[in-house]
Amino acid sequence: MSRVVLHLSDLHFGRIAPALPEALLKAAQQIAPDLVVVSGDLTQRAKIVEFQQAHAFLEQLPYPRLVVPGNHDVPLHNLYARFVHRLSRFQTYISADLEPVYEDPEMAVFGVNTARSSTWKGGRINSRQIEGLRTRLCATSPGVARIVVTHHPFEVPPGFHHRELVGSARAALERWTDCGADLLLCGHLHVGESTTTLQRYSHVGWQAIVVAAGTATSTRGRGAANSFNVIRVEDRQIVDVSKWTWDETAGGFQESSEARFVRTEAGWVRRDDSSGEPVRTAPV
Ligand SMILES: [Fe+2]
Ligand SMILES: [Fe+2]
Repeated sequence: MSRVVLHLSDLHFGRIAPALPEALLKAAQQIAPDLVVVSGDLTQRAKIVEFQQAHAFLEQLPYPRLVVPGNHDVPLHNLYARFVHRLSRFQTYISADLEPVYEDPEMAVFGVNTARSSTWKGGRINSRQIEGLRTRLCATSPGVARIVVTHHPFEVPPGFHHRELVGSARAALERWTDCGADLLLCGHLHVGESTTTLQRYSHVGWQAIVVAAGTATSTRGRGAANSFNVIRVEDRQIVDVSKWTWDETAGGFQESSEARFVRTEAGWVRRDDSSGEPVRTAPV
């Protein structure tokens, strides 16, 4: 049995490339995921109109969804809104629950809010969240894939500073040792990349696959093409992560690379050599 997760991030309504939302909806229709995950930064400046646009977009995706906020979803310039209302606009228009959970017989997906009023760009996971998630991870049935969704990342792509990691990342992974997670989904850096926790957190004795999504729809790509991920989880044994990138010439999103991770006795191991190579050419 398998499940397909459509992993979107950093939509940034307010800084949208006009053609992309519709192309993304078209691709989603083809993918027909079991769940849509959005790992934060739905807006550019946390304006009401931006949240309304993000809400209207999400409503066009007829699939279960799990959304967490990002740092851009906290008002920046209006200090009263920033510190008093914080994520109230996100809660009004996107998701009242800041730590949503999705569970079915194949997978359990846990959202964690890492956006903070006290810091503009950075984010952190606090001890209450770490302990709460530990309880939930430990209570999950052995055959069910465990997926944690944050905005800020547990690993950074090459060239990024470790200061970009979610605060208390190491403490979280240490506390989750007994119960683990299979996948850590994130966004924030606007770079789509898959890896494992093995290198940075080799001391914790367990490992997860870390999947970062690029910006799906915004003009804030930092040189990278707009992208999103399609993640297929099979029996908690195999995880395929395919990155779909925007092709201006074709006028659609195309699958541009795929990474396969296989569970072994030593943990999750990447078993592919196709990273970066186009595997499908038909535009969507
Ligand atoms: Fe972002
Ligand atoms: Fe962000």
